[in-house]
Amino acid sequence: MLYKKIIRPALFKFDPEKVHDFTIKLLSAGLVPPLIRPFMGFEDKKLEVTAGKLKFKNPIGLAAGMDKNATALGSWNALGFGFAETGTVTPLPQEGNEKPRMFRLPEYGGIINRLGFNNCGADRFEENLERIKDLLPKDFIVGVNIGKNKRTELDDAYQDYEFSFKRCFESADYFTINVSSPNTEGLRQLQQRKFLDEILKSLQALNKELDETYSSSTKDIYLKIAPDLTEGELDDILQVSIDNGLTGIIATNTTISRDTLPQGKYESGGLSGKPLEPIANSVLKHIKKHSGDKLGVIACGGISTYDDVKEKLDLGASLVQIYTGLVYEGPGLIKKIKKALASSASGS
Ligand SMILES: Cc1cc2nc3c(=O)[nH]c(=O)nc-3n(C[C@H](O)[C@H](O)[C@H](O)COP(=O)(O)O)c2cc1C
Repeated sequence: MLYKKIIRPALFKFDPEKVHDFTIKLLSAGLVPPLIRPFMGFEDKKLEVTAGKLKFKNPIGLAAGMDKNATALGSWNALGFGFAETGTVTPLPQEGNEKPRMFRLPEYGGIINRLGFNNCGADRFEENLERIKDLLPKDFIVGVNIGKNKRTELDDAYQDYEFSFKRCFESADYFTINVSSPNTEGLRQLQQRKFLDEILKSLQALNKELDETYSSSTKDIYLKIAPDLTEGELDDILQVSIDNGLTGIIATNTTISRDTLPQGKYESGGLSGKPLEPIANSVLKHIKKHSGDKLGVIACGGISTYDDVKEKLDLGASLVQIYTGLVYEGPGLIKKIKKALASSASGS
């Protein structure tokens, strides 16, 4: 209530990216997690989920792009998320696209962004992650979402993924291969079989090699896909993912479609939030229908209530992720969803 009535109207008076940067700075301060925890804490054994090799304390995760440089993990844990996906990180630091590049659509509960992988680069990112990981409880899962630098040719893209994978191997609990952001030219072509097969094969080989080097275990790898694929393209991706032993799919990234918005002129970039939800859910349905239990699914796109989460879990997702819903509903959303999930599990 406080968020929607007072905090959100105040924040929405300012430029979205400035508010984002300010919030991340605040949440990255070491003093903040202990201050939030007493208000946001809610744990229940009934919420635990095993997906791939990992046990999650609850199925609600932070989607990639919010904590691009892995600086605020203590706060995501304190807010009650079961896991957070950091990044997208690229081998070299980059500024991203020209500003302004992030736009709210408050009438529709959406955001359009064309940030273009602004991030501190894999070396700095890994230092941040390693430092913070030591302070986090072991049951808080951290994913690392990796992408390619703007200047890297598509034919060489696999080397960018290898670089960040190797750099972050020890600190990451799982990896996500991002081939679906609409804001890096050509990136989504990496979803084509010839590129995708090369990337996944090279990463799985590296996964085995690093597992022996560090005598740990291979990491779960997820592929994050676009919601704008044809059914044929999607089927091809599912087959390549199964053939290469991926743990699962993250469905979905932002959409370039504006079909779920009223006719009008909109900014270019990826659309997230409520207008994405029906599109992302139809992709989720298709994946479960065509790959069954061969691939796990982390569902993402348009979650802003418990019912939205329930729908995705009922459609077969093991875990969910939220970005835009957090901006519109505020940090209390996570506890609210977890309480409703726990009470529905008690009732069933
Ligand atoms: C401002 C913004 C930046 C994002 N950056 C990334 C990113 O760097 N990597 C990525 O895989 N997804 C990124 N996403 C996509 C989200 O992770 C998520 O897939 C998408 O927003 C749909 O979820 P939502 O409707 O809950 O926001 C970004 C989304 C937004 C709104």
